[in-house]
Amino acid sequence: MAPSLPFKLDNESLFRDKSYVNGKWVAAKSGKTFDIYDPGTGKPWASAPANGPADVDEAVQAAHTAFQSWKKTTPRHRAQLLLKWDGLIRAHATDLARIVTHETGKPLTEAKGEIEYSAGFTWWFAGEAERVVGSVNPTSIPGRRLVTVKQPIGVAAALVPWNFPVAMVLRKCAAAFAAGCTMVVKPSPETPLSALALAVLAEEAGFPAGVFNVLTTDLENTPSLSEELCRHELVKKVTFTGSTRVGKLVAKLCADGLKKLTLELGGNSPFLIFDDADLEQAADALTLLKWRHAGQTCITANRIFVQAGVYDKFAELLAKRASALKTGHGATEGTTMGPLTTPQGVDKAVSHVDDAVKNGARVVVGGKKGSSEGGYFFEPTVIADAHDELLLAKEEQFAPIAALFKFETEEEVVERANATSMGLASYFFTKNIDRAWRLLENLEAGQIGMNTGAMSAAEVPFGGIKMSGYGKESGKDVAIGEYLIEKSGVLTLQGHY
Ligand code: SIN
Repeated sequence: MAPSLPFKLDNESLFRDKSYVNGKWVAAKSGKTFDIYDPGTGKPWASAPANGPADVDEAVQAAHTAFQSWKKTTPRHRAQLLLKWDGLIRAHATDLARIVTHETGKPLTEAKGEIEYSAGFTWWFAGEAERVVGSVNPTSIPGRRLVTVKQPIGVAAALVPWNFPVAMVLRKCAAAFAAGCTMVVKPSPETPLSALALAVLAEEAGFPAGVFNVLTTDLENTPSLSEELCRHELVKKVTFTGSTRVGKLVAKLCADGLKKLTLELGGNSPFLIFDDADLEQAADALTLLKWRHAGQTCITANRIFVQAGVYDKFAELLAKRASALKTGHGATEGTTMGPLTTPQGVDKAVSHVDDAVKNGARVVVGGKKGSSEGGYFFEPTVIADAHDELLLAKEEQFAPIAALFKFETEEEVVERANATSMGLASYFFTKNIDRAWRLLENLEAGQIGMNTGAMSAAEVPFGGIKMSGYGKESGKDVAIGEYLIEKSGVLTLQGHY
């Protein structure tokens, strides 16, 4: 019997607390489960199977068996299933958002926004499925013909983070399914239930057993289960979104089996505001970007560089917006910023603010832990007089802290913006078209926001450079290509050799 939930779902069958393998709802072989906590209260509200390495083979074998027939389906058929899934996801958006809010803490309106964003991927990759084309090429030798064909690579494994638990599953799976691959998903221990709800809808959409598998696990078993997945010889592709530290471990595991790999890793994104920027536009964009999911996005602004002439004015505009945010439980009406997802996130925010204050920076708004509802809260925070030696400049904050750094010239700020090992996203605000072009070319990041803080969308290639990883998700051709192999066929006509 389903446990009673602390919130109501319109469709209760979306709540599952078993893993989904080969079209069946299953417990871990060990029978062990783990708790899922509501970050807004700090209390457990559900549980899921704590799978271990011993549970991996069955899921991969199921995905491998399913692959034998799935790869032979037409791209149009796969597109049709993706569109059915897409329709079901949209129809159940509010329920999915309720689950996401209770797993991640993000406000319900934001969680609904995540579902809308996520369905962009099912929609987009349904379109991509039939656009995978090979080529017929000229050759240098008479009587010879050369063709290239693209085929699905095989079983893919997805290691998914907790900050966008629906979007990250769909960004990976929709591309894989469109290509003709099957998938074993390992959701984050914080957010397994939204992935399981997606499995309910995938089944309803008509995806055959074994195409989409979800193996849940806890924090303790995450390294060993992930290692087993990465090392399994039938897994041909691994996609990971998470920290650079763990991404390097995943890359090492995949190197042994020479697995194709996509790594979407950490960021330390600069956000540049020039004297000639529209300051209201920049402050609005930064407010949306910085406090989206309480600062817990890889592409959020980590270092906000403001040109000296507008520094005080911009700090004032931002402080006003930060003070207007309403922090609370994500399911509470009117909440505009929820808690952090983990208590460790709050500890890190505290240490970053402490270090900043100790080293000469100034708290303009917030700066403290909040515990009014017993959850993992930290106030929306604005810090002025930040400098490049602070911890919060060197590390990814993953917290609702907006730290303002002052700069004088374009040359100086580009050098400081690029002075990080990361290269996920960069943003700038200016009305000077020549400068905009220069910045696009000179900032070292995989994605550049030009007078915007919101660039993520299914049609935009997502992915970093430098230590932020490699490979692209979403966007035309490149993302689906991550799940394909390319073969060259050379034919010699009669009378030639
Ligand atoms: C992320 O934090 O990695 C995802 C953000 C996005 O897709 O916009």
